[in-house]
Amino acid sequence: MHRICVIPGDGIGPEVMEAALTVLKAMELDMEYYPALAGNACFQKLGTTIPSQTVDQAQQAHATLFGAVTTVPGQNSAILTLRKKLGLYANLRPVKSYPGIDAIYPDLDFLIVRENTEGLYAGWEEYTPVGAQALRVVTRKASQRICEFAFNQALENGFKRVTAVHKANILKKTDGIFRDTFYQVAENYPELEAEDLYVDVTARLLVKNPQHFQVLVTTNLFGDILSDEGAGLVGGLGMVPSANIGDSNALFEPVHGSAPDIAGQGVANPTAMLLSVVMMLHHLKEEKAANKLEKALLIVLKERRFLTPDLGGNSSTLRMAREVQDNLDAL
Ligand code: IPM
Ligand code: MN
Repeated sequence: MHRICVIPGDGIGPEVMEAALTVLKAMELDMEYYPALAGNACFQKLGTTIPSQTVDQAQQAHATLFGAVTTVPGQNSAILTLRKKLGLYANLRPVKSYPGIDAIYPDLDFLIVRENTEGLYAGWEEYTPVGAQALRVVTRKASQRICEFAFNQALENGFKRVTAVHKANILKKTDGIFRDTFYQVAENYPELEAEDLYVDVTARLLVKNPQHFQVLVTTNLFGDILSDEGAGLVGGLGMVPSANIGDSNALFEPVHGSAPDIAGQGVANPTAMLLSVVMMLHHLKEEKAANKLEKALLIVLKERRFLTPDLGGNSSTLRMAREVQDNLDAL
């Protein structure tokens, strides 16, 4: 039996979560769901965006599903706290084009592996007499861990090339360590091609020739930025899921945020959340269910049945999810 911690959050978070849970529960897997609070609504109620009870629940679960939260300036970011407290050092963001979906590129399939614990997310930022400064932390340990993770992901998913993305011409020490560690790790994977690119070059190639990319591994902020760019290439933020993986915990969330501009209308695209559920099912070794859910979703996308407005349709989040659910039975 799998114990799943469910954190719907704010804005469209609860909307896409309801859609995903409707479909997931219809699959009748051996799972128990434990709802938990986080985000701004939680803050209004309990005075904290991330109660310790939520952290405990996520820690004790086999996996956590996370919708999205709104973080008001001055508040603690619930998701960053969870990533840190659960030791979720690898953030996997698969960027894929799907038939039926209007994308800048119809033929992309690459994976961004984002280091999730340090870099410019280390949380050390302070005002100085002349302005402010932030600290960029790169350790050999975290660099090695994330690079090994990226090479292993390449092997597991049939990719042939791993690209390290950095800015070592300017950040000579921090990204120098990241790049050198990458090539040390690469020696253990002679069957895979290893290359490195500057982040600015990568940003341009992602627009000009994104088919080049297979697995990209990079530090925290670069991974954040490049994954939004990737989403823009394949139909928007509603299309890209993510997995946050640690040694003993895992959390799955869409790359998109709480989208206050469309919240409450029931029109959010459930695809990224559903694909995050697919990633969770793979993680739990529920391969059959993972493949079935992905297939059911792909049919709905390909045949453009009951899509949400961002995909050019005029259906609701739940209507689209129900269509996915109906397809499950046919598979
Ligand atoms: C993401 C988001 C988060 C991040 C924010 C909400 C803290 O942009 O998951 O990509 O910066 O990591
Ligand atoms: Mn982001």
